[in-house]
Amino acid sequence: MNITMTPAARLSGEISVPGDKSISHRAIMLGAISRGVTRVKGFPANQDCMSTIKAFEQMGIDIRSGNGEVLVHGKGLRGLSAPSGAIDAGNSGTTARLLSGILAGQGFESIVDGDASLRKRPMRRVIEPLSMMGAEITARDGGFLPLHISGGKLRGIEYTLPVASAQVKSAILLALLYADGPGTIHQPVASRDHTELMLKQFGCNIDVSQHSITLTPVPELYGQDITVPGDISSAAFFITAALLVPGSYIRITNVGINPTRTGILDVYRRMGASIGIENVRNTEAEPVADIIVYSSNLKGTVIEGYDIPRLIDEIPVIALAATQAKGTTVIRDAKELKVKESDRIKTVVEMLKGFGADITATDDGMVIKGPANLNGCMAASTMDHRIAMTAAVAGLVARGETVIAGAEWADISFPGYFEEINKLRS
Ligand code: S3P
Repeated sequence: MNITMTPAARLSGEISVPGDKSISHRAIMLGAISRGVTRVKGFPANQDCMSTIKAFEQMGIDIRSGNGEVLVHGKGLRGLSAPSGAIDAGNSGTTARLLSGILAGQGFESIVDGDASLRKRPMRRVIEPLSMMGAEITARDGGFLPLHISGGKLRGIEYTLPVASAQVKSAILLALLYADGPGTIHQPVASRDHTELMLKQFGCNIDVSQHSITLTPVPELYGQDITVPGDISSAAFFITAALLVPGSYIRITNVGINPTRTGILDVYRRMGASIGIENVRNTEAEPVADIIVYSSNLKGTVIEGYDIPRLIDEIPVIALAATQAKGTTVIRDAKELKVKESDRIKTVVEMLKGFGADITATDDGMVIKGPANLNGCMAASTMDHRIAMTAAVAGLVARGETVIAGAEWADISFPGYFEEINKLRS
C-alpha cells in the first residue's frame, strides 16, 4: 500500500500512542505460565503482539480480548500443552526469542518459525545459552528459524551476554524458571529491564544488581493486573516530528519512561531539544509520564556505547532528526542495527539519501551532516515498520510530496499511525 505525505505547516495537540510492545509480549507470556488470571490493560492491537497471543492459544491458553483489555487465563508454570503445528512468530523477534526460552523448559517438542525477515535474524544467540542449560535445539543452517526445540530438564547456568540484548537476557531468565537451581546472567551493558520488573511483580525470586541478575526458581508465578504504558518507541516518531516542524507544540500522554528506554530523550536534549516530562507516575511495575515537545533547533552529537541499547529501536528516526541538526552526528557501536527487522544501517542510510540527506554508512553506525534540505521522494518501507514510520516524518519536513511504498508495514507496531500523525497538523 502506498501512502502520500505532504509537508506540515505546524503540529499541535494532544495524542496518545499504543501500549508498549515489549511489555505487552511479556505480559501475555508471564500471564500464560502463571496461576490465575492476568488482566492486561492498554494492550496494543499490533501484529507482533498478536503473534505472541496466537502462540499461547496454540498451547492451550485461553486469552480473551475486548475494550483494550486482554485476559489471560494462566495454567501455571507446567500447564502449557504441546502445540499442534509449528508456532509462527511472524515478524516478531521478541516472540521468537523469548518463547524459545519458555519452550526450552517444556516436556514437549516444538517448532518456532517466522516470516522471511525473521528467518534471516540470528537465533544462535539464544540457542547457545539454552543449550548450555540442557535444551536440545536444532536450527536451519545452525542459527536460523525454524527452530526445533526439545526441552525438559534444565540446569541453572552462569552466563555473560556477548551482546547487549534484552531478548537474549529474557529468553535465559524465562528458561531459568524451569531450571533445577539458580542461574546468573552478567550483562556488561544494560538493556531494557521489563522482564526483570515483571518477573518480580509475578512473585519470582530475582535479584538484580548493576551488572548481574540472579534468578532462583519458584514453584509457581501468580497472575497479576498489568497496565501497559504507551510505547516510547512509537512516541519517538511524534517527538521527532514536533521537534522538526517549526512552531509545533504537542503533548503525548501516558508514555512509559523506564530509564532503560529513554535514551532518545537524553540524546535529543543533548542536541538542544526542548522536551518536558509531566505527570510522572507509576503503573504496577513501570514509570509513565506525559511528554511535552516544542519544536527546537538541534545540533549534532555523538551517540555511542551505553546510549545504544537505550535507543536502539529509535535510531532510524534519530538519524532523520540528525539530518536537520546543525553539524555532524556520529552514531557508533550500533552493529546490532544490521540484524533488526531490516539491516537498518543500510536501509536508514538509503532511505534518507533518497530525501537528499548527507548521510554515510559505517561498519557500526552512520555519520550524518546537517542541516540538509530534504526533498519529497518515493520511500520504500523495505518491509520494516520503523523505516516506513520514519519516512512519514521525513515527509512532513521535506519539500513536495513523499510516497511511502509498503506503508502497511507500520501495522507491525502501530496500526493507524498515518491517521494519527495527520491529526496533529494545524
Ligand atoms: C526488545 C529488545 C530489543 C529491541 C526489540 C525489542 C525486547 O532487541 O530492538 O525491538 O522486547 O526485548 P534486542 O534484544 O535484539 O536488542
